[in-house]
Amino acid sequence: METEFDLNLRQGLPPHLRVLADKFPRTTWQGHPNFSQLTAFWLDRHVMFRQVLTKLVDDTQLHLDGKSGPRYGAELSRYTGFFLDQLHSHHGIEDHHYFPQFKPLDARVARAFDLLDGDHHALDGHLHHLAEATNAVLRALQSGQPSRDSAAQLLACQEGFTRFLDRHLCDEEEVIVPLVLEYAPDIG
Ligand SMILES: [Fe+2]
Ligand SMILES: [Fe+2]
Repeated sequence: METEFDLNLRQGLPPHLRVLADKFPRTTWQGHPNFSQLTAFWLDRHVMFRQVLTKLVDDTQLHLDGKSGPRYGAELSRYTGFFLDQLHSHHGIEDHHYFPQFKPLDARVARAFDLLDGDHHALDGHLHHLAEATNAVLRALQSGQPSRDSAAQLLACQEGFTRFLDRHLCDEEEVIVPLVLEYAPDIG
């Protein structure tokens, strides 16, 4: 994969895929007549993913500081399970339903869908690591063993995931929303 497409390395959309993103800066989205309810709903899902991940990072930091409550393990399990489930199905809907309808709209940015598809695959690997790191902490908590080392690893994993997910969501939004505004596709 080209470096400019690599989720782990890139700093944003490659310039040649920013034709529509530059035409429709983020600040113009909400007031545009083609900004649909479905687009608002989809962006809200991204906000929700960011919020849940922030809560998980904050809770693990509190745990490492010795300030977490007795419900840390239960909430870690519940919120991480919810996050993994929801993100997995969100990617599935994008891969199978939204992206195939958006890709043919504009040949100039069609390759952005290869980039987004690559992101989903890269995120699958990160999701797997997040699940493993979470389970290591839950096992330590359940067996009454010290969970400090595994919690430190989990925090690093959660923080890394936050960076990758944020990069993906920002770039995905700058591909999809400008396409909606330019073409007002009838997405079912
Ligand atoms: Fe995505
Ligand atoms: Fe998404």
